[in-house]
Amino acid sequence: MTTVIKGGTIVTSDLSYKSDVLVDSNKIVEIGKNLNGDKVLDASGCYVMPGGIDPHTHMEMPFMGTFSTDDFESGTKAAVSGGTTMVVDFCLPSPDQSLLSALMGWHNKSTKAVCDYSYHMAITSWNEKIFDEMKEVVQTKGINTFKHFMAYKGALMIDDDEMFASFQRCSELGAMPLVHAENGDVVAALQQKLLAEGNNGPEAHAYSRPADVEGEACNRAIMLADMAGVPLYIVHVSCEQAHEAIRRARQNGKRVFGEPLIQHLVLDESEYQNSDWDHAARRVMSPPFRNKKHQDSLWNGLAAGSLQVVATDHCAFTTEQKRMGLGDFTKIPNGTGGLEDRLPVLWTYGVGTGRLTMNEFVSVTSTNIAKILNIYPNKGAIRTGSDADIIVWDPNLEKVISNKTQQSIIDYNVFEGVSVKGLPRFTLSRGRVAAEEGKVKANPGDGKFVNREPFPAVNKALSQWKEITSPRKVERKAENMPAGV
Ligand code: URP
Ligand code: ZN
Ligand code: ZN
Repeated sequence: MTTVIKGGTIVTSDLSYKSDVLVDSNKIVEIGKNLNGDKVLDASGCYVMPGGIDPHTHMEMPFMGTFSTDDFESGTKAAVSGGTTMVVDFCLPSPDQSLLSALMGWHNKSTKAVCDYSYHMAITSWNEKIFDEMKEVVQTKGINTFKHFMAYKGALMIDDDEMFASFQRCSELGAMPLVHAENGDVVAALQQKLLAEGNNGPEAHAYSRPADVEGEACNRAIMLADMAGVPLYIVHVSCEQAHEAIRRARQNGKRVFGEPLIQHLVLDESEYQNSDWDHAARRVMSPPFRNKKHQDSLWNGLAAGSLQVVATDHCAFTTEQKRMGLGDFTKIPNGTGGLEDRLPVLWTYGVGTGRLTMNEFVSVTSTNIAKILNIYPNKGAIRTGSDADIIVWDPNLEKVISNKTQQSIIDYNVFEGVSVKGLPRFTLSRGRVAAEEGKVKANPGDGKFVNREPFPAVNKALSQWKEITSPRKVERKAENMPAGV
């Protein structure tokens, strides 16, 4: 059975042109004028773009004494409703748990996904078994990225020696490390100070994680990755300090990627000053929302190419879960949602305001991350032979974001009341209509795990530190040696 997407304008990361797209089964088979198919999807007045890829989600994640509420079913329904056709979740072993057993757990949870998915493997502790299993994860399990938390001291955080060892292992295996860059020791100290001073509300969460905490960790991770001879992907970049470190690293030839979130681009620190405790706590995430200057820096980075990807870090907790932190902000589960809203909000605030071109929109929501994760052009492209993960984007469709109409099963939305213009008319996942004007048609189990091959050896040439990583012993004659040696 074939489907033709007719009458639209194809928009990719580098081209915009009028053409039809023919889909057979799960693949794009032809691009051209006046194509015919068994089924016709009307794309007149619409842009036909690669489906969104969100490389940063946490479905049903055990965290801070609870589990994030959206699971692979509600989370991926939110994804396709908003035009995202693939998510990359974080497989999170508990400390000292085998990576392979954690992976089995994640595969069990993701059977109900309605769109395609993959995982980053988290390194939450370090020992010989983990070192050994990393090889199997890369070579036989289709995962080429490993996540490291530099924050959440006493829980997910690992130390520099462990992180450096893991980065070196990534380099050997053709894998790429990811980091949550915040100095966890400084955060822990600031949290204790604030609590001791009686600052226990959600606003103190932001005070405990100033931008320098992120900038320092970002610089440190970049230098460690360079010394290990491996590229680096920095998740949820929220501030100029971190962006500056990434910009400088790239300028100096280091292969470093930066990922701002749609939340940080649009929502600011004033959210934490809201007199309603629930309102402020619902927006507690790490790093916290920043001021307008930092937001401008992120937008500029996307336009300039120094930041490459817009994600969500979708990690949704209900109001009741957030209330675990009443009287102690350090116990508010960290995380916000956004999967359904990423594309419409970015289109409205980016393309709609002229900050981003349509082609840049495609780059930062899909194509760049497909290349970074080594799944391009299977994903992230409108080309013959690519997976038919496609959005038919209607620039004139409008809505006001509301938790009453969302797919996410939490009881609020951090973008509540925001008006968006530009929404998917159709979302196709592997050639099937997964959502039509926000209504989900896909079923649990329709999504498939996407294998990601290791990266080529090019990464090894990256180290700025080669003179030290290739040591040469100086042979000295006896007369040049101190007496007695
Ligand atoms: O606050 C956040 N970001 N929660 C999810 C876990 C993480 O740090 O990515
Ligand atoms: Zn994080
Ligand atoms: Zn995250």
